Amino acid sequence: MIRIYYSKTQKEAAEKCANVIAELLKKKKDAVLGFATGSSPVMMYRELINKCEAGEISFEGVKTVNLDEYVGLSADHDQSFSYFMHDNLFNHINIKEENTNLPDGLATDLEAERRRYDGVIESMGGIDIQVLGIGHNGHIGFNEPADSFSKGTALVDLTKSTIDANSRFFESPDDVPRRALTMGIGQIMQAKKIVMVANGTAKAAILEDAFFGEVSPKNPASILQFFKGEVDVFLDEEALSLIMERHPEAVIK
Ligand code: F6R
Repeated sequence: MIRIYYSKTQKEAAEKCANVIAELLKKKKDAVLGFATGSSPVMMYRELINKCEAGEISFEGVKTVNLDEYVGLSADHDQSFSYFMHDNLFNHINIKEENTNLPDGLATDLEAERRRYDGVIESMGGIDIQVLGIGHNGHIGFNEPADSFSKGTALVDLTKSTIDANSRFFESPDDVPRRALTMGIGQIMQAKKIVMVANGTAKAAILEDAFFGEVSPKNPASILQFFKGEVDVFLDEEALSLIMERHPEAVIK
């Protein structure tokens, strides 16, 4: 079931999303969280840091598994997703380093790394909450538009749309890695609950198509319409603009 929550600002959406995660952590000290990178969840991670600093929540027993990592970037490269997670969250909360997991972008045997990450996800015994952003082309994790939905961890070629979008973080578009390892759509769909954060008008059309269009691997996020549990979507007014115009009844204020 998809629930789309209205927020005026990105900060408000981040707070609401962080509250959902905080409520889980208060009930389940050893929760398994699936994390995303990119600009969308940054404010939400800031809220989690604030709650942790205030003693409201603890990450002591929490395990995490991230969606994806660029192939070819080391964990300490400042554009790697490992670096991003440490910089934006892990270094500021009381999580144990050994309880955090990302694919290894420098693995020499990528097929073996793909299988290793399948094993990591499997060993978690179920992701309690998976955090997602959404790409301009509808990708979730780095599951790009394709002819089919990937089941397990996948080695993917990034599309031009993704390379262009992410080039803002690199000195030149040529520096953006061309491949990535990503949790598969099948694994995302096995999570117990999903939360998505997105903001800005550039995401408005793909979000409307994902949640109200046909379910197709051409818009990977559309598979969430078939998710068995709750998908809580936290959008700012800009990201919501088209949904508000076409499906106002679907928006929870
Ligand atoms: C990254 C990820 C991607 C991003 C998406 C949106 O771990 O899973 O699917 O969520 O590319 O990125 P931003 O938030 O930078 O627009």
